[in-house]
Amino acid sequence: MREPTIHVEECESTQLLIDGDAPEWTVAVAEYQSAGRGRLGRRWEAPPGTAIHCSVALRPPAERPPQELTLAGALAAADAIELATDLFVQVKWPNDVMLNRRKVSGVLGELRDGTVVLGIGINVNQTRDQLPPDARQPAGSLRTITGREHDRAAILSDLLARLEHHYDAWRESGLDALYPDIGARDFLRGRRVSVDGLDGTAVGIDRSGRLELDVGGERRFVESGEVSY
Ligand code: BTN
Repeated sequence: MREPTIHVEECESTQLLIDGDAPEWTVAVAEYQSAGRGRLGRRWEAPPGTAIHCSVALRPPAERPPQELTLAGALAAADAIELATDLFVQVKWPNDVMLNRRKVSGVLGELRDGTVVLGIGINVNQTRDQLPPDARQPAGSLRTITGREHDRAAILSDLLARLEHHYDAWRESGLDALYPDIGARDFLRGRRVSVDGLDGTAVGIDRSGRLELDVGGERRFVESGEVSY
């Protein structure tokens, strides 16, 4: 069973607790982050003791594109949240985890000297007024959606177990191994979306981790970007 290697009350960001030469599966967890990082330079914030903030050092084989790991992280978070809530959880390409159409978790991958520092945040016990009001997309926590508090330690333990499962499968066979799970949890499929100026209907996530769009009958593939729907 994977357990946190580093557990602190407070830090700027758990992403900064992991060096490029940390042993693989070093897991850093914090009760509070004073400068939590989101994607695209955004902040990721939660009051002390309410959420899960965790960063994991992974050293994937050279032939595997490290950016695919955000999908493995999102799947692991989705599995752990589903186990905790008994509700269907979806993954919104490329790194968001959605419950009842609200973002409850996000994944951030940073590459440091060949080590992927995979950061996963899960909104667990925040109340409605503790969630960011200016979130680009509606945020939720497990508590605001289920109406009860959840055991963060149990969710963290499931998260790490599921991450290990998906990571091992991905190391062995690449994204093909995750493809059925990703397809089953795809939040955007069939929705009208806009990605960096491109408007179309999301067809799905392809076997290279790209978002496939139907733009006026033409297939387009997006490597990365910010989706609104
Ligand atoms: C996003 O959706 O924009 C990604 C959010 C990632 C947040 C997690 S919390 C643990 C780790 N430490 C950070 O500073 N960020 C990630």
